[in-house]
Formats: sequence, C-alpha cells, structure tokens
Amino acid sequence: MKIPILDKLRSYLFLKILLILGTALFFTIILVMVSHQILIVHMVFPVQQRNSVNYAQYIIKSLGTPPDIQKAQEIVKNEKIQIRWSGPGGEWASSKDLIGFQKLDIPAFPEEKGIYAGFNETGLCIDIKKGEWRYLIILHFKKEGIPYVVGVFAVIVLCSITFILTSIYFAMSWLLKPVRILHDAVRQMGEGNIDVEIATNRNDELGKLTHSFNIMSRKVREMLHARERLLQDVSHELRSPLTRARVALEFLDESNTKTSLMDDIHEMETMIIELLETERLKSQYGGLKLENVNISSMIQGLCSEFKNQEPGIKIVSMAENIFLKIDPKRIQILLRNLLDNALRYSRIGDYPVEISLREKANEITISIQDFGSGIPEQDLPYIFEPFYRVDKSRSKKTGGYGLGLSLCKRIMEAHQGDIEITSKPNVGTTVFLKFKNTGASSNPNKK
Ligand SMILES: Nc1ncnc2c1ncn2[C@@H]1O[C@H](COP(=O)(O)OP(=O)(O)O)[C@@H](O)[C@H]1O
Ligand SMILES: [Mg+2]
Repeated sequence: MKIPILDKLRSYLFLKILLILGTALFFTIILVMVSHQILIVHMVFPVQQRNSVNYAQYIIKSLGTPPDIQKAQEIVKNEKIQIRWSGPGGEWASSKDLIGFQKLDIPAFPEEKGIYAGFNETGLCIDIKKGEWRYLIILHFKKEGIPYVVGVFAVIVLCSITFILTSIYFAMSWLLKPVRILHDAVRQMGEGNIDVEIATNRNDELGKLTHSFNIMSRKVREMLHARERLLQDVSHELRSPLTRARVALEFLDESNTKTSLMDDIHEMETMIIELLETERLKSQYGGLKLENVNISSMIQGLCSEFKNQEPGIKIVSMAENIFLKIDPKRIQILLRNLLDNALRYSRIGDYPVEISLREKANEITISIQDFGSGIPEQDLPYIFEPFYRVDKSRSKKTGGYGLGLSLCKRIMEAHQGDIEITSKPNVGTTVFLKFKNTGASSNPNKK
C-alpha cells in the first residue's frame, strides 16, 4: 500500500536527515533512561531501601515497647521524620493529617517478612509490624523537593531536546543550502538559461560540487558560443561569393541551367539572411523597431496571402482589434514561417490549418494548428535548433534548411514572448505564440 505523505517525505533529503537525527536522539534518550533504570532502580534503590529499613528499625527500638510518646516527639523534632503507630495502647501519630496505614500502597521489603518500604505520594515510607504493634516511619516527604526536582528535570530535558532539534534544523538547512541553490541552477539551465553561475565560499563536498557545476556551465556556454560564432562567420564569408556568382550568372544566356542555378543561389541567400537575422536578434532587443500594431488585421492579411495553398487556412477565433507593441516586419516573418510549415507539412486531404487569436487578462495567444504529419516525440526537444530537421535525408522536397523555427524562437524571445509546440505524429501540430498583454497592447485609438 502506498501512503502519499510517506512518498512526499521520501523526496526531501532534508527531512530524511532530520528523521535520522531525530531517531538517533530518540534512541539515545531511551538508552539513557534504560541505563538509569538499571543503575538507580535496580542497583542503588535496594541498598537505599535496606539502609532505610535498618534506620527505621533502630528508631523503633529506641522508642521502646510500648512506645514512648515523649521520646517519639523528640526524635520527630531532631531527625525531621514522621512517626505513626497502632497497638494495644491505642493509636498515635506525630501529626494530625499523617497518612493512615490502609492508604500506604508501598512494595514489600524482600529481605524480611512483615516489612513494607518504598515511595508513595507522601514520601519514603517504612511500614513495620512487630508483635502486636505496627509502626510507620516516614523518612522524607515527597512534597518537599522530589516533585520539584522531577519537574525541573523534565523541563531541562524538554528544553534541551527542543534546543538540540532547533540547532540541528538550522545547521542542516545551512549545510544543505548549496543543494537547493544547485537544484535551482540546474533547473534554470534546463530551461535554456545557460548564463547561470553560483557563488560559493564553501570548501566541503557540496562546495566542490558547486565549483564543478560552474566549470560545466562555463564549458557549455563556450561551446554554444563557438558554434554560433562559426555559423555567423561562415554566413558572412559566403555572402560576397554568392553575390558575385549571382551577378556573373545574370550575364549568361537564359537556359534551364541558369534558372536552376539562380533558384539555388536564391535559396542559399535566404538561408544566410535567416542565419544572420537570427544572430542579430540575439543582441539585446535585437534592434527591434517596435510599433503599436493591429495584430488581428495583420493575421487576416497574411491568411489571404496563403489562401490558394492546399489545404487552406481557417480562422476559428479572432479577437478583433488587438494591438501589440511589436516589430511588424519580424512578426510577419515569424507568422509566414509558421503558416508555411503548417501548410507544407499537411498532406493532401488533411483538414485546413486553423488559426486563432485569443486575448486573456495578462496574455495574448496566437495558435496555429495543422492536421498534418506531426513531429515524432523524440524530435520535439530539438525542433528549435538551427538546421534541425525531422527528415534526416534533408531532401529539398520535404522541407527547407531547418532554420525557420530557430529564427521564430529568436523573434519571440526578442519580443519577450514565448513559443511552444505540441505535436503528435499523424494527428497534427499546434504552435502557440504567447505575448504579454501589457498596457502597450491596448488599442491606442480607444484612448
Ligand atoms: N507544422 C509542422 N508539422 C510537422 N513537422 C514540422 C512542422 N513544423 C516544423 N516541422 C518539422 O521541423 C523541422 C524544422 O522546421 P523549420 O525550422 O521551419 O525548417 P524547414 O525549413 O525544414 O521548414 C522541419 O523540417 C519539419 O521536419
Ligand atoms: Mg519552415
């Protein structure tokens, strides 16, 4: 049987360690109590019991038979004890409210018959039968001292345990702080923020782990930067030869070869523009030219641009007159790319691509849904990488260079928005574009 709380407990290292320490403390206390029981109760107490019985017998002897009241009063005064007896001469007690024989409730003294000795509410009592007489000697009173001592002891123990547990709690949370920070940093890195570094001045294992994490994150950063630099440099270097090739081609006579070469050069130029554009957008705000744009009309305009392509585009929900502060050229590139994908990866006979624009209190979402071939689950995490394509043969019939989505992601990031893709093979793909619904997105004409 699974208990949800236990499962939850299992997932906290901090609680586990606390639990281990708590258990250790618990067993330490048990051990102390058991050894106390053995040492005090089983070894010291019998000795004390025997001494007390001897002392009581000595007092009874000095009282004489029948006991002498005057002598008793003297002993009570000097020894600070209490005495009661009963016998043929009647009953006597050193104080009016002294406990009676019938209420004693103390254990029998194992070494001699007719004697009882031990603690009760009143204190250490010795009950001795001698001939026709029965004596009760109370050696010291619990009221004066014992409850107080027990109380103080309990308070000290409780305070110490509370203090120890609180100290352990704070010590542990200090000790495990790097784990929490590391967890946070790893999560951030997983979300794509590779600029994380953790400050630490610890030298223990966790400090070393933090240090290694920093080295790893630096290496990853360097690798990614090197890759991006390479792409950028190659694009730059290809630009001029391509232009020269195009100019040279213009002088050739018209032929099929010329058209085909022109097409290839055009495609490569587009690729280079996309690469460089992606790179440029990475710099802060990427030189965006922000304007208040009616995104509703922009989408409608773009849809009519694509209206002749199979299987067509259907507007399913369109919030009217939504204004967004965006770079219109870049957003058009983005939407064109996504619509192009949706149409390109739909098959003959599939449902038309569905597009919608929805406004929420803090978010404006554009969704583009197709019912085409879809993207396999294992490819989804890489779909925004430059040059990534599902079709590994990279046939020109089934797609482009694989740069479109990486540019789309950069454009959304530059706009501080989000792009998400959900997809299922043979069911279809949906792309969500999420923009913050800030004050800038309201219709300026309304004001
Ligand atoms: N709507 C979609 N349906 C199915 N696959 C898609 C869709 N959009 C993108 N893909 C897959 O993602 C890859 C990368 O897309 P993209 O960056 O736009 O490059 P491409 O130039 O190939 O269209 C595509 O090659 C394709 O395999
Ligand atoms: Mg594309």
